[in-house]
Amino acid sequence: MRWIKVDAVAPERQDLADAAQALRDGELVAFPTETVYGLGACALDPLAVAKIFEAKGRPATNPLIVHVSTIEQARALTCAWPEQAQRLALAFWPGPLTLVLPRAAHVPLSVTAGLEQVAVRIPAHPVARALLELADVPVAAPSANRYTQVSPTRAEHVARALGDRIKWLVDGGPTSVGLESTVLSLSALEQGPELLRPGMIDEAALEAIIGPLRSRAHERVDEEVARPSPGLARKHYAPQARVIVWDGSSSLDERLAFAASAQEPVVVVALSERLSEQAHPWGWRIELPKEPHAYARELYRVLHRVDELGAAEVLIQAPPDGDAWRAVWDRLSRAVT
Ligand code: TXA
Ligand code: MG
Repeated sequence: MRWIKVDAVAPERQDLADAAQALRDGELVAFPTETVYGLGACALDPLAVAKIFEAKGRPATNPLIVHVSTIEQARALTCAWPEQAQRLALAFWPGPLTLVLPRAAHVPLSVTAGLEQVAVRIPAHPVARALLELADVPVAAPSANRYTQVSPTRAEHVARALGDRIKWLVDGGPTSVGLESTVLSLSALEQGPELLRPGMIDEAALEAIIGPLRSRAHERVDEEVARPSPGLARKHYAPQARVIVWDGSSSLDERLAFAASAQEPVVVVALSERLSEQAHPWGWRIELPKEPHAYARELYRVLHRVDELGAAEVLIQAPPDGDAWRAVWDRLSRAVT
């Protein structure tokens, strides 16, 4: 694997030229977006797209998001572009919003998992933008992790999960949003726009632009049934360790005493003013900031850290309720095993 480090803010185009060419040649290239690292391949090349599914170990029933660098390119992947799409694109792109729209005929069905709708997004990360411009092809990219595991927010996470399965890793440092994009479907507009996956662009922000949404992101969908969105799979975003969300009313002391006696190291993740990590006789205590954006940015890093530490269990203090925490809650509930 070639691991190229580039400046996260102002990447040298020269450094990205070979990776862009690799995308054009049908190779896999992992690259940073502002949400999580993506595992990219040319979206118009079914053989390249097949490599994504193979590297991730992902079922072919889960469709992929296609990344582009302009609204015109996004539009060209669709066969209908309602005015809501245009308004949302102008308001939130480039950024962590994915729009699902009726598919143009030239988008391979392997990208959409056989669905007549395609998911499109213009990422905001300067490295992703430069790479997409240079490659000059639409790039299908799921999160660059093995199926059901935690999404990568650093190049090291990608290297650990997929290092022996990919040729290129573009390293643009840690990602800034930290959770996957909000996914909104505009493909059945007569029934209204529908939130498929909550993200850090929250419902209120979307509704301010296009009015009320339908939401089914909270539904749990059976693994075996073809589903509208793989983000709805029940177990997803999960570390190796057992995940328990602790609501503050249950006694942590009892649990820690048990862990110490069982000699099973645990990680306690608590809310605090700032980030920190400390070793204890029973394992480690990691503190995450109480502010939702800062928390979201660090959550996956902490879940990766839990596995790195070899913990058997992670006890996560329940974050607050409310709109700003909805995406965090969604991912936590899917990480719980
Ligand atoms: O932030 C992100 O969205 C990251 C970065 C790399 O862009 N990508 C990502 O991809 O999270 P992935 O494959 O892990 O999740 C894809 C999500 C699914 O959960 C699903 O909601 C939606 O995109 N999706 C993709 N194609 C779709 C389609 N044709 N119809 C409905 N939903 C689709
Ligand atoms: Mg994913």
